[in-house]
Amino acid sequence: MNVNTNSASPSGPLGSASNSGSKQADPVDWEARYRVGDTPWDEGYAAPALTTFLSKHPMRGEILVPGCGTGHDVRAIAMLGGRVLGLDLSETALRMARSAPHVAEESYEQAKLFDLPASWSGRFDWVVEHTCFCAIPPESRGDYVRAITAVLKPGGHYFAIFYLNPAAIEGPPHGTSREEIKQLFEADFELQEEWLPSEAFEGRERREICQLWRKGYETISLLDC
Ligand SMILES: C[S@@+](CC[C@H](N)C(=O)[O-])C[C@H]1O[C@@H](n2cnc3c(N)ncnc32)[C@H](O)[C@@H]1O
Repeated sequence: MNVNTNSASPSGPLGSASNSGSKQADPVDWEARYRVGDTPWDEGYAAPALTTFLSKHPMRGEILVPGCGTGHDVRAIAMLGGRVLGLDLSETALRMARSAPHVAEESYEQAKLFDLPASWSGRFDWVVEHTCFCAIPPESRGDYVRAITAVLKPGGHYFAIFYLNPAAIEGPPHGTSREEIKQLFEADFELQEEWLPSEAFEGRERREICQLWRKGYETISLLDC
């Protein structure tokens, strides 16, 4: 498999957001970026690799899309029959998502991924990742995995489009590698499939990897009360 890792060149889809904050604190003011329309990551439609995946594997049950932004991916999944909850910390992004024509069973909730209600433990059949993992500070990736693990049902699926090697010198988007992803997920998940998508937004071609993971049946992870 021809997978690149973290080569760098200027100016990626997330533009000029600074990444100089302290550990765990997100230096990006996402709400401010949406308010002024500084959202170069928002292409106006669902991730092409997700659309292709859905055409072969429509998702059923309850589905969570963390960091959903203005909801393009949420609506693409809902259109094919899933009950989809889009989560984002930005009130403005969610206002835009809610103002888009209603498709089917989609809804939105404003919350921080690392501060979810305990009642969400084991709630979802699927979690769909696209440009949330690469947006959070890399130091927070352990917290990200704990949150995803906690909200999935035993045997639930995690479909992810990981951004391996964004063009930006400084993230976000923050790149990753297959090795890092494996280390983060392999304790509680089983990798079912992975592939390099042949469809991507302009500028992201050959920079992404799709992976389908299944959470183990033995894993018990609860969100804090
Ligand atoms: C790069 S944007 C991608 C948005 C959307 N997935 C898209 O592709 O258009 C990252 C999104 O994650 C949200 N986000 C960042 N950190 C978050 C957190 N800790 N909890 C929830 N949402 C978060 C931001 O508000 C933003 O909408």
